[in-house]
Amino acid sequence: MAKRIHNFNAGPAVLPLPVLEEAQEHLVDFHGQGHSLMEMSHRGKTYDAVHTQTIADMREVMHISDDYEVIFMQGGASLQFAAVPLNLAPAGGKVLYADTGSWSTKAMQEASKLGYAMQQVAGSGDAEYTYIPTIDAARLDKDAAYLHITSNNTIRGTQYHSWPATGDLPLVADMSSDINCRVVDIDKFGLIYAGAQKNMGPSGVTIVIMRKELLARSPKNIPSLTNYATIAGKQSLYNTPPTFAIYLIGLVLKWIAGQGGLPAIEKTNRQKAAKLYALIDGTDFYRGTARVEDRSLMNVTFRLPSEDLEKRFVAEATEADMIGLKGHRSVGGCRASIYNASSLADVEALVDFMGEFERRNG
Ligand SMILES: Cc1ncc(COP(=O)(O)O)c(C=O)c1O
Repeated sequence: MAKRIHNFNAGPAVLPLPVLEEAQEHLVDFHGQGHSLMEMSHRGKTYDAVHTQTIADMREVMHISDDYEVIFMQGGASLQFAAVPLNLAPAGGKVLYADTGSWSTKAMQEASKLGYAMQQVAGSGDAEYTYIPTIDAARLDKDAAYLHITSNNTIRGTQYHSWPATGDLPLVADMSSDINCRVVDIDKFGLIYAGAQKNMGPSGVTIVIMRKELLARSPKNIPSLTNYATIAGKQSLYNTPPTFAIYLIGLVLKWIAGQGGLPAIEKTNRQKAAKLYALIDGTDFYRGTARVEDRSLMNVTFRLPSEDLEKRFVAEATEADMIGLKGHRSVGGCRASIYNASSLADVEALVDFMGEFERRNG
């Protein structure tokens, strides 16, 4: 059996082993066809079945109603920073953002660069993005095109645990790092987007789930590959889609269903996070960086007493087959990303290692 280490990478990140094994089994000869899925036309019957089934499985696993379109795009979540305003707002129109860290900031910069009237309605930059700010829904400008939030802040380790009630104003969420980590009521959102490479599959494909009625907003004069209406109109086959990545998303969705669906995934994720946070809260050696009530189920960020100890921690963890524990280069410290495919056993191994590291160095 292949050696598998404990992978706490922030993304691209660990994928479920059964998914990789199934892909491997059919890599060279896709279900008796004598060639790989990667070598097939995206217009052929075989790929078409994979594509259609993946969308159907996403609808089923995530309880996405017929009021919503499911689209596959490329360009990562970063392209969505431009696509969202280009499609949803009139040229120069008013757009609302909550700034909860680097990825929100980047989304805001992109919209500003394109000439939209940026209004920051909430932010946590005053305290190094260690918390999720309250959004006063009653005071939101109803003339704006939408409100954009980043549901999980991969770098800072914070996450929304309730959603702002925006009424008729579409709520747009970048869910790149927490999509499918828990049960989410899709109906609360106008649009959700996520790069696949944390909880959904490999990099190279971005998922967009949007209210069908919003498709009418897409202007004709924006680039076709950013145009939701164009891509939705062609069932995400306007141009060559990342076929293999979409196939892998399908396998990940089947794996989620096999685990008992999102309620079961959420339960395990809560257990995993609780174990890690309990260790961090029970000592002065490790210090969590995010406000307790806003902590992320997916990215657990913490500091050690000194940068030297942090370096040693990451190095010794790597020696012990635990990778990806270095914090993002922009903030330092340590971070354990515990996405869906990271198991309770992976987290228990990390908790044991952290306890033992403290005993030796505390
Ligand atoms: C919350 C969030 N948004 C956006 C991005 C950027 O994604 P991409 O590299 O797919 O453009 C990331 C990457 O880690 C992220 O964590």
